[in-house]
Amino acid sequence: MDYFARKKIKEILSNQIDDLANVIVLGWVRTKRTSRNIAFMEINDGSTLQNLQLVILNPDKFPLEQINNGTSLRIKGYLEKTENREQAIEMKVEELEILGEAPADYLLQKKRHSFEFLREIAHLRPRTNTFGVINRFRSKMAYAIHQFYQKRGFLYIHSPIITTGDAEGAGELFRVTTLDLARLSNDGGTVDYSQDFFSEEAALTVSGQLQAELLACSLGDVYTFAPTFRAENSNTSRHASEFWMIEPEMAFCNLDEMMVLMEEFIKYLFQYALEEAGEEMEFFNKWIDQGRIKTLEGIINAEFGQISYSEAIAILEKAKQKFEFPISWGCDLQSEHERYLTEQYFKRPIMVTDYPKDIKAFYMRLNDDQKTVAAVDCLVPQVGEIIGGSQREERYDLLLNRMKEAGMDIDKYQWFLDIRKYGTVPHSGFGLGFERLLMYLSGMGNIRDVIPFPRTPGNARF
Ligand code: 4AD
Ligand code: MG
Repeated sequence: MDYFARKKIKEILSNQIDDLANVIVLGWVRTKRTSRNIAFMEINDGSTLQNLQLVILNPDKFPLEQINNGTSLRIKGYLEKTENREQAIEMKVEELEILGEAPADYLLQKKRHSFEFLREIAHLRPRTNTFGVINRFRSKMAYAIHQFYQKRGFLYIHSPIITTGDAEGAGELFRVTTLDLARLSNDGGTVDYSQDFFSEEAALTVSGQLQAELLACSLGDVYTFAPTFRAENSNTSRHASEFWMIEPEMAFCNLDEMMVLMEEFIKYLFQYALEEAGEEMEFFNKWIDQGRIKTLEGIINAEFGQISYSEAIAILEKAKQKFEFPISWGCDLQSEHERYLTEQYFKRPIMVTDYPKDIKAFYMRLNDDQKTVAAVDCLVPQVGEIIGGSQREERYDLLLNRMKEAGMDIDKYQWFLDIRKYGTVPHSGFGLGFERLLMYLSGMGNIRDVIPFPRTPGNARF
């Protein structure tokens, strides 16, 4: 093969090639136009949204009739600059080898398929323009995330995927077991997990936070970037059963200090998208949401709004808009409330702090009012919550109380309590949903369309 010898189309089109002769390109045909004396094809190799135009000056020398959209090719030829502003370089074909034919039922035509339709056709989806862009964008933004934390001396740590606890205490767990389910289903009684693989009930993690806290309280500043799993049966455009989360955790850091980092982080990612993912952002701006680039530029240059939960409730209670879910102090914010706050009232991302303790997880630090906790959610227009975080309860007795109130099995979490027993420190952290971030940056309306293999209720085939 010519894996190392070939040039990627991205390099070619950005003028990074010195020797224009004997260039090898490997890729898939996107379009073909033939006539008696000349033929044109566009070929794409996944390195960029752009196709390379191939020009064939002696069409009868090649088996062009066997080539359809989707056919994979090895091409050798020479590059030529053109007067065409759209495509400044094209390739004159000297050798052409068909690597894999694509029968005529291959659906990659010029026509745009709906995102719903594409979700059903695994082999086609990543070859479309949109999902090519999405997958390249994911890769770039993942890199940006590592860059942000590595530059600041955070350590990239690995929380376990299999856990025996429920970090969020919401009970939305996917069981991990080697027990014989067929036999159990006939037993009808309780399950004896001591017979199971880990000798206790285990599940896929909903968050790496609890273990990240342990490592932050020995390493200082850490972050995870890993898949997390939630068995919540909510079929919405913003929920996935498997999604990626970035969870920084900082020792010696309080809520206000953490919020400074949070805003810096978000703005860094927005800036990075505009500067380093120009091709992708321009695509989104043209095809997905016109005005996306302007919106992001606006956010980078403005302060995020900041209000307490109580202030948010007061705003919502005064709102002229009718809500499906009535709102009062103590209720969790529903998506419609979040949208009102960010889209109608503030018209920008906001950070909402100090939620009632009863609607937040057990590990959040109790405020002096005894009613609220040092929590923060970052809400953005269209998508709603993209970040949830808090200062952690670092006082042993208070945490123990909250855990008892929540009806938790204290034994199971003794290791977590021990962080508070031996050299406890104030510490804080948050979780950014990677797909929610990508939705916001791209303007894509459905979380299924910013992840290559979406997992949602009833759907884990490919
Ligand atoms: O608010 P959550 O549940 O917070 C935590 O898991 C904390 N342990 C984070 C921490 O403090 N280290 O989730 C954090 C973020 C949400 O704001 C949202 O962006 C995303 O994770 N998220 C989801 N994304 C897609 N699908 C789902 N089902 C999601 N659930 C949460
Ligand atoms: Mg949350």
